[in-house]
Formats: sequence, C-alpha cells, structure tokens
Amino acid sequence: MTRIIVLPHADLCPQGAVIDAEIGASLCDALLAGGIEIEHACEQSCACTTCHVIVREGFDALGEVSEHEEDLLDRAWGLTANSRLSCQASVTDTPLIIEIPRYTLNLARENTHE
Ligand code: FES
Repeated sequence: MTRIIVLPHADLCPQGAVIDAEIGASLCDALLAGGIEIEHACEQSCACTTCHVIVREGFDALGEVSEHEEDLLDRAWGLTANSRLSCQASVTDTPLIIEIPRYTLNLARENTHE
C-alpha cells in the first residue's frame, strides 16, 4: 500500500483526503477506491482527459508518459509540467500528493460531435 494525499477539491473532496492505494493500481482506480469520484469518462482508455491530475509530489515515481498521453494532456484544462492522466499512471511504493484540477474537458465526448 502507498499513501496518497489528495488536496482539497471543491466538489470531490472539499477537505482533502488521505487514502491508502494498492501498488500497481492505476492512479485513477486508486482514487476511486479511496472514495474520490474523479471523472473517467472514457473508462480509462486514454481518450478523454477528464481524469487529469497534477502530481505535486511523487511525479517521477509514476513512470514514463506515453506519446498518446502527452498529446491528450496538451489539450487538458489547466495543464502543468506535473500533469498526468490518472488512468495512465500506476501507483508505486512512493507516496503521492495529488491535486485534481477545478475543471475537466471531455475530449472523447467532443470528438463524437465533430
Ligand atoms: S479516463 Fe479518459 S483519459 Fe483517463
């Protein structure tokens, strides 16, 4: 298990949260299992960016960002140098501090209306 600190988010966890996450789980699954209802509109298939998180601590432990993830992240709301799509990052034994951006963009949904 690894500890994940989630910084306060107005809708999802106004007080912030501390959760225990299973090593090897996707960060998105770990947040959901911890009661944080982060959006994951494309069911974690790396197509929507609604699961975007900013990794305030532990970013390097989450491994490589694929080119596809990077392309999507480029269009995510509130992109930072420490942004990840939480469905594409796996939890390791390094504790994390995560911030969930205030807004999300559902690129998958937008694409279906093009
Ligand atoms: S859930 Fe859609 S990109 Fe992660």
